[in-house]
Amino acid sequence: MKSKTQKTMVGTINKQVLAFTTGRDVELDLNLIEADCIGSAAHARMLAKIPAKPRILSEQDVRKVISGLVKIMKSARKKTFKITAQDQDVHLAIERTLTNKLGNLGKKIHTARSRNDQVAVDLRLYGKEQLMAVMGEVLALAEALLKFAAGNSSLPMVGRTHLQPAMPSSVGLWASAHAESLLDDIKLLAAAYSFNNRSPLGSAAGYGVPLKIDRNLTSKLLGFESPVHNVLYASNARGKCEAVILSAMSQVMISISRLSEDLILYSMPEFGYFSLPKEFCTGSSIMPQKNNPDVLELVRAKSARVLGCAFTTANVVKGLPGGYNRDLQETKEPFMEGISMTRSCLQIMALLVGGLKANRNALLAGFTPAVFATDRALELVAGGMPFREAYNYIKTHLDELAQMSPVKALAKRTHLGAPGNVGIGRLKNMLKAEKKFVRKEQEKYYDAVMRLLGVKYPKLV
Ligand code: ARG
Repeated sequence: MKSKTQKTMVGTINKQVLAFTTGRDVELDLNLIEADCIGSAAHARMLAKIPAKPRILSEQDVRKVISGLVKIMKSARKKTFKITAQDQDVHLAIERTLTNKLGNLGKKIHTARSRNDQVAVDLRLYGKEQLMAVMGEVLALAEALLKFAAGNSSLPMVGRTHLQPAMPSSVGLWASAHAESLLDDIKLLAAAYSFNNRSPLGSAAGYGVPLKIDRNLTSKLLGFESPVHNVLYASNARGKCEAVILSAMSQVMISISRLSEDLILYSMPEFGYFSLPKEFCTGSSIMPQKNNPDVLELVRAKSARVLGCAFTTANVVKGLPGGYNRDLQETKEPFMEGISMTRSCLQIMALLVGGLKANRNALLAGFTPAVFATDRALELVAGGMPFREAYNYIKTHLDELAQMSPVKALAKRTHLGAPGNVGIGRLKNMLKAEKKFVRKEQEKYYDAVMRLLGVKYPKLV
């Protein structure tokens, strides 16, 4: 049987093979249109600077190409830019569109590059923007937690180990512990950001080109810190870079999954420590009394999925031989999905924490005399008894323990970071510094793109 074939810009292929090899790129690459246009603008600028006779592109050509690229970006924002099966991916869709509009000029734009370095630079630009957004969202959630902590800083809450009542603690300590976890995760995101902040452009298929291209120039035009030095490594780092970013996101998801678990537990009627905002809970189709914490459960489950995305990505690249391999295309889906799940979870959690209420009576009701057992033992130590003796004495007289004031017990815990001295201000200062970092990086990037495209960015006017 004769197979059905399809003509593409880069050869005629069996239709089924084309569909199989293109996979989900036709939809996923819609997320890369802006990055591809920005990368192409920098490449065109650089092509015009190559000291060749005749020039590959004139300055006037570059202006035309860039204005064509900006038009594509605008149409992408209106959702009118299409990537067809015949295009295979965003790169050829954009080249086709430019060629339809600009003729030979469109055909020249791919001089001295390959789709391999093109997609690598697109993903780095995409990753960069997403990382800045995720950092902003992590900080917004940390801020909501610190606000809740500050509003309930001295409200007593039983501290637990093994889920068993352990020691007097406070809502302030609980909430700011979750905030500090996120502030720690920001360090990982910032490390991934710096790892990602290098330009692979000009590595072409992975081995450079026999032309005097200027990789420092394209890197600078795109607002990267520097080019990835070795062209083969620039190609090999695809997938690795995504795995690094997803592994930082995995830590964020682990943090908020644990926050979710705490909230599910402490908002159960049996605890009643916290109330979730009513509009965040769902009912049951059969049991009229139900108030289910579905949002938190989904965040808990999505954390497993983001970890899965990180694992899939690392696993696709771990056994690849050097140089480009089509396997890399399969890292695009977990990369984009992992990021988008992380972002939606962060956004919903910030809203939920913003509407959280602490219930004083339920929190105080948790304080049985046993919670103060260690305090009592330390009172005996203060009178000169060795700790192990005091411990044994209290252990054998647990029934006789008298109730203690949780507020007074908290007031005695004044050392650094303790429940009576949570030091929320310190965490707030850390948050402020991180916010400033994100704002500065965002400004630097937008400035570079504005200079490159000659239009306001991200507005595109
Ligand atoms: N869609 C491809 C990818 O994501 C683009 C690069 C294609 N390069 C190639 N040599 N076939 O990897």
